[in-house]
Amino acid sequence: MVYKKLYEFMSSNYGKEPIWRYHILSVIKYSKKLSSIWKADKEIVLVAALLHDIGRLKKLKQHNISGQEEAKKILTQLNYPKEKIEKVKYCIRLHSANIKLKRKTPEANCLAQADILSQFDNIDFLFFVAFTNGVNIEKTNQLIRQKLEYCWKHLDSTSKKIINSKYEAIKKVLR
Ligand SMILES: [Fe+2]
Ligand SMILES: [Fe+2]
Repeated sequence: MVYKKLYEFMSSNYGKEPIWRYHILSVIKYSKKLSSIWKADKEIVLVAALLHDIGRLKKLKQHNISGQEEAKKILTQLNYPKEKIEKVKYCIRLHSANIKLKRKTPEANCLAQADILSQFDNIDFLFFVAFTNGVNIEKTNQLIRQKLEYCWKHLDSTSKKIINSKYEAIKKVLR
């Protein structure tokens, strides 16, 4: 129930943002898939997926840290139970691939993997981000290739199986 309300809240406030359309929706898709595979609490993973980049959407620094506090504010307003809010905050805090800490819950693992998998879904978004940051076309190809290599390294074997054929296709397209 809270997921539906939260989805409406997020899509009405941020639905026009490229990061919503080209990243968060894809993270939600993979979160659904992975929470079934890993028998994680789907509600926690999906709520965390909806809110995991709220810090980026609000253009805050250290979006993992700032994002978990923003998530808490929103979920408290929706009367979401405190202990569930803590679980969601944990997922958000540890969602980025560059965080070396071991993720101690299946929910946090699912979100982190879904966040990486989404990168392979939206190659057009990666080009968009590079161009809006003023990167030239040759450098863009190289940057995207490096980014996806980094993402691939941080996937577990289950996630690699999910995305392997798409990654192979992307590598053929990128020079
Ligand atoms: Fe993020
Ligand atoms: Fe993300």
